[in-house]
Amino acid sequence: MKIALLGYGTVGRGVDEIISARVPQVEVARILELPDRLSDPRMTSNFDEILADGEVELVVECMGGIEPARTYIMAALAAGKHVVTSNKAVVAAHFAQFASAAQASGVGLYIEAAVGGGIPWIAGIEKARRVDEVTSFSGIMNGTTNYIVDAMRKQGAEFDDVLAEAQRLGYAERDPSADIDGIDVANKTIISASVAFDVACEKNLPVTGIRTLTKADLDLFAAHGRTVKLLGRGVREGGRYAVAVEPVAVPVESLEANVPGNFNLVTLDATTVGELKFYGQGAGSLPTGNAIVQDVLDCATGARRPAYDFSRGLDYDPTLLRADYVFRTTAELDGEEPYGKGAYLVRDLTAEGARAILSEALLADPTSFMAALS
Ligand code: HSE
Repeated sequence: MKIALLGYGTVGRGVDEIISARVPQVEVARILELPDRLSDPRMTSNFDEILADGEVELVVECMGGIEPARTYIMAALAAGKHVVTSNKAVVAAHFAQFASAAQASGVGLYIEAAVGGGIPWIAGIEKARRVDEVTSFSGIMNGTTNYIVDAMRKQGAEFDDVLAEAQRLGYAERDPSADIDGIDVANKTIISASVAFDVACEKNLPVTGIRTLTKADLDLFAAHGRTVKLLGRGVREGGRYAVAVEPVAVPVESLEANVPGNFNLVTLDATTVGELKFYGQGAGSLPTGNAIVQDVLDCATGARRPAYDFSRGLDYDPTLLRADYVFRTTAELDGEEPYGKGAYLVRDLTAEGARAILSEALLADPTSFMAALS
């Protein structure tokens, strides 16, 4: 099968390297690259050339961002080309549109690499769903923030110092907002919920990151036998579902608490199989490249053709996600109980309610931090 790569950054290079070394039945025939970076005879900066190339049966989009990725994906699907993408932002924003375009053209839409890098998470959900109802999922879906929290905990270091070190090592972007404010996890949560629950997932979910986490917070939770992890979560009950992204104070003996460095750990719960955990590298050139190549092979061999149907119409009900929450803030809170130095426990809040309280607290004290107790 001849394929084209849209983008030749970290992920695109990983795909090219794996295919040329290990997958002789697939040929990277064309590569879309910026005009000033055309260093290979396969490269062009004109997407229409790739679109018009009848020999290219599949397009791998690994450019990132919303545009022009959305336009190129829609054009490729309309032209009858299969699409594989690692771009979580564009899939989270336009999943239903892509799924119906793929269905209308009779081609495949493959998104494994968009969540959890090299971990076969999307295919795992799909396989569970063939037999079971997926009732919930949760997980560490962002390697950068896991690296930061793990290093803060192990080195007793402050957030800003670890973030600067992560940026120096290339784990964190120069603008780290998408990672540390939970936006990246929100995109991955929307995609996971869409696949797990067969729903065009609500995009206006409660999202809280770890920007205000301090060493003192980690010490406080450690005194309670807990540590903090940034989790994406989804739950489904009958005809309703809810999703959220927030810091969660997990027991120190849990698997989540012990996920090191920039690794990911995602968990689903389903009717007969019960709990399944998926652990591995959620980012990086070769792990993410591997997930893309697996999708390409699933398509080329016909081994797997995902069919996303979001017409079942589950209702979004944020009251399904409830927990006790700890707030560290100097702002006034209602109904709080002391939890430790400067921190308070507020019982039985919805994720949405807790986010509203934190938003209010941040106005009075911009350093406020919140975590759910799992
Ligand atoms: N910034 C993301 C992470 C990259 O740290 O997990 C992979 O999606």
